[in-house]
Amino acid sequence: MALAVVHFLWKIPSATSLRARLRRSLQLCNRCYPVHASLSYEAIKQQYRPEVPEYFNFARDVLDRWTEVEKEGKKSKNPALWWVDGAGEEVRWSFEELGVLSRKVANVLSDACGLQREDRVILILPRIPEWWLVNVACMRTGTVLIPGTQQLTAKDILHRLQKSKAKCIITDDSVAPAVDSIGAQCQSLKFKLLVSEGHREGWLNFKDLLKNAPSDHHCVTTKCQDPMAIYFTSGTTGSPKMTEHSHSSYGIGLTVSGRYWLDLTSSDIFWNTSDTGWAKSAWSSIFSPWIQGACVFVHKMPHFDPSIVFESLSRFPITVFCSPPTAYRMFVQHKLSSYTFKNLRHCVSAGEPINPDVMEEWKAQTGLDIHEGYGQTETVLICGNFKGMKIKPGSMGKPSPGYDVKIIDENSNILPPGKEGDIAIRVKPTRSLFLFTCYADDPEKTEATIRGDFYVTGDRGIMDEEGYFWFVGRADDVINSAGYRIGPFEVESALVEHPAVVESAVVSSPDPIRGEVVKAFVVLTSDYASHDPEKMMKELQDHVKKVTAPYKYPRKMEFVQQLPKTISGKIRRNELRQKEWRKD
Ligand SMILES: *[C@@H]1O[C@H](CO)[C@@H](O)[C@H](O)[C@H]1NC(C)=O
Repeated sequence: MALAVVHFLWKIPSATSLRARLRRSLQLCNRCYPVHASLSYEAIKQQYRPEVPEYFNFARDVLDRWTEVEKEGKKSKNPALWWVDGAGEEVRWSFEELGVLSRKVANVLSDACGLQREDRVILILPRIPEWWLVNVACMRTGTVLIPGTQQLTAKDILHRLQKSKAKCIITDDSVAPAVDSIGAQCQSLKFKLLVSEGHREGWLNFKDLLKNAPSDHHCVTTKCQDPMAIYFTSGTTGSPKMTEHSHSSYGIGLTVSGRYWLDLTSSDIFWNTSDTGWAKSAWSSIFSPWIQGACVFVHKMPHFDPSIVFESLSRFPITVFCSPPTAYRMFVQHKLSSYTFKNLRHCVSAGEPINPDVMEEWKAQTGLDIHEGYGQTETVLICGNFKGMKIKPGSMGKPSPGYDVKIIDENSNILPPGKEGDIAIRVKPTRSLFLFTCYADDPEKTEATIRGDFYVTGDRGIMDEEGYFWFVGRADDVINSAGYRIGPFEVESALVEHPAVVESAVVSSPDPIRGEVVKAFVVLTSDYASHDPEKMMKELQDHVKKVTAPYKYPRKMEFVQQLPKTISGKIRRNELRQKEWRKD
């Protein structure tokens, strides 16, 4: 039986007693939702009617309610979190256990560290269960979480600590030395919590504190628009910004993802292979699945390894799967037919556009489509190929029912189908509560995202006659060659269709006649790596001319072992572009 908790609960006045609220929530939970109903886009738009209450806290209003449903035996027996380390260690927490443990952590934060509401907490941990506990504990205490990746250097951490004025940092012994090397320069940093065994000078031991912490904790009452988290954007360009999100934006806004894009119910087990450090990992590792009562599957996987992914999909009853395009491009290089993904029924991809050829390969080998979704750290899902919709390969689908999405020009006029422009979300007369609230401490940068009645994503796109959106590129990545505008994604997708190409990055390169031309950096498959580069280049150029408009073919080409990527796996086209333009 599939239950949808969230939307029906919001009318509940915050003053009612917990007991009454729970009773009511259970009644509401009994309203069943169709299981894996493949809805048409129109039906989704009809059905989706979020109500946003004045007060909302994800831990109390969603997680604690699933605990009640679970106790009543009204949901599947799947845990809330299912963590494996690949070496035989497993952790399975029910919603109830997650509740108890996260309350203990909440007490650690407020008692042992004396943290107050809206104090900022930096969290840098690998994929270990404690990461989830701290996330939930921050919600319970109203402290503002700032997640970061293990790959941050001491300098990055210093920048984040200084910029955010965080009072507390929670990490393990692999990152602690970096923190100690710069800690003296951070006046606001008061508490350092170590999530590893043993004692470290100047640090409190998380696990010891947790053991002794009481398990009852009263969740703070938060308004929808109170700050919940700050994500430093991964920054394919410029220095990272502090993107602030409220309790409602991810906590309620990601219902669209959980329900219509990921197609989750409480009987599903969802796995996203991405790292906890990514700004958006909260999308898939916390909000989208838990809103739906689904199980979050996590593999510790210290290094990304396709064979671990295949083995896990074969061994564990994972039903819904997400990976970025970079990973899918690697997957289809392998023989997938030697594995059976017994329970897998739905696949999605996000982070960058996915090449149609990769989708086709994946489908040929697994029988499953890849449903692409598009969003930013600043937003929730903007466009998606929702379950049940016709997929147009290469398109990011249709606008999320949570937003009014348009293609606009530089004067904020709405453009007709077929015209390239800026992908934008309407924010006037009322700004969606499912958008970031601001770039913290930076009103100018926040203001700069608004043009007329719209929030401008900084991405270029086209809407077709049927209302499907097509990604052209980051505004900065679009190439202007002899008057033609060329989006890198289309050329990269054309290249990847050739059996010799694993992946590529397409950027502009200076040219005396055309101003700029298309240059491709190409990673070849091992079978082709030793081919004559001249001939290979000619062959690939001819191939691109055949599969796209000929003027788009890369006039310049360079074969490389790998592409520069951000921590989250996005190709750093700006780095390649800068190198090109510096040469001359
Ligand atoms: C999976 O994680 C990545 C990185 O955090 C994110 O961009 C993507 O949206 C996630 N997928 C889903 C389905 O939320």
